[in-house]
Amino acid sequence: MAIPCGGVGSSPPVHSALTAQSILGHTRLEKIMKKKVVLAYSGGLDTSVAVQWVRESYDADVIAVAVDIGEEKDYAAIQKKATDVGAVASRLIDAKEEFVRDFVFPSLKANAVYENKYFLATAIARPLISKIIAQVAEEEGAGAVSHGSTGKGNDQVRFEASFGALNPDLEVIAPAREWGMTREQEIDYAQQNGIPIPIDLDNPYSMDVNLWGKSIECGVLEDPSKEPPEEIYEWTVSPQAAPDTPTYIEIGFDQGVPISLNGDAMDGVSLIEELNQLGGSNGVGRVDMMENRLVGIKSREIYECPAGTILTTAHRELEAMTIDRETMHFKQQVELKYSELVYYGLWFSDLKKAIDAFVNSTQENVTGTVTMKLYKGSCVVAGRTSNRSLYSYEMATYDKADAFDHASGKGFCEVFGLPLKVAARLRMR
Ligand code: ARG
Repeated sequence: MAIPCGGVGSSPPVHSALTAQSILGHTRLEKIMKKKVVLAYSGGLDTSVAVQWVRESYDADVIAVAVDIGEEKDYAAIQKKATDVGAVASRLIDAKEEFVRDFVFPSLKANAVYENKYFLATAIARPLISKIIAQVAEEEGAGAVSHGSTGKGNDQVRFEASFGALNPDLEVIAPAREWGMTREQEIDYAQQNGIPIPIDLDNPYSMDVNLWGKSIECGVLEDPSKEPPEEIYEWTVSPQAAPDTPTYIEIGFDQGVPISLNGDAMDGVSLIEELNQLGGSNGVGRVDMMENRLVGIKSREIYECPAGTILTTAHRELEAMTIDRETMHFKQQVELKYSELVYYGLWFSDLKKAIDAFVNSTQENVTGTVTMKLYKGSCVVAGRTSNRSLYSYEMATYDKADAFDHASGKGFCEVFGLPLKVAARLRMR
């Protein structure tokens, strides 16, 4: 290693010996303590290749961490595979409950839906995975973390913004962005290194799955003029194939959080699983959208999100009954910003935290039940009840029970329309 020692002919600066010593000391220390990298591991080809590639390219020990947030797969096998492909240690963390409590439900309270269509399943998973990876790095005394995202998507940004917010000193290694391998080269590399090649390698679709939803990209979906083939859907039946009779369900909410289904108290994870089932079997929750990615690309995305669709629709309905007009209108504006922040990977930002505080305050009275009708792909409200309701029958009715003071309408109209009258007179002068 070159050690700075001043220009030719000049006497070395006084501190150079010290610098040399500390650099040598550091090198020696690094020799003793091999670099440790904690990798977010999915068990797929990319992150399996990443284990070996990081080991080789950074001369590092890789600790693989698989996080279970509700994708149904063989996690025991994944945990084993990580060490088979070269990780020094492999951990499996079940984060379903934390995911629902701290990521899904806060988003639901904010009705977080990006560009009016995307329920943000992947976007809210990344900060949680980052949090877990950063924690493991701390426990293991690792100075670096790693994710398998490419340079074209939103996920790299979400991981790295989250790592930065949680521990600004962590070094981030993004193998799939750095290695510059084509798909074929990656497969060659895997074969040379004894990394198992997945049997469904010819599956043209790229998917990301968790409890809150599933995203499907690539293959024929990249032609936005074409209807997606039926084969891509795994959670939902097509509306045509759905039952001819509707399914009615009643969801109970407590301060904006869903707590029961058809009168039975349910934990968040089970409730979401059940709603994915019920919605999916009625063809509810398919989304086909043109999406604006943070990196500037427009992409065609398909989602399956039955539980997200049902719960967000029901939640909005209960809000409409229990939140006053001005708070609700203001909240709708804030929701747009919230969805954008979450999509952009700014989950751990100060603004997001401040909006959460506002949103929580709006949820104080969002308690009650909503009956939803699921029928051939549609999901609509059928009824709602709340003992915190702001709906007043006496105020709303046109029957004889009407208690609204009709005469006061005259003064109200006069005063409310006054500025327009004044402006009109000025124009006519
Ligand atoms: N477009 C969605 C998003 O940005 C889904 C991304 C899916 N990610 C993936 N690695 N397949 O949140």
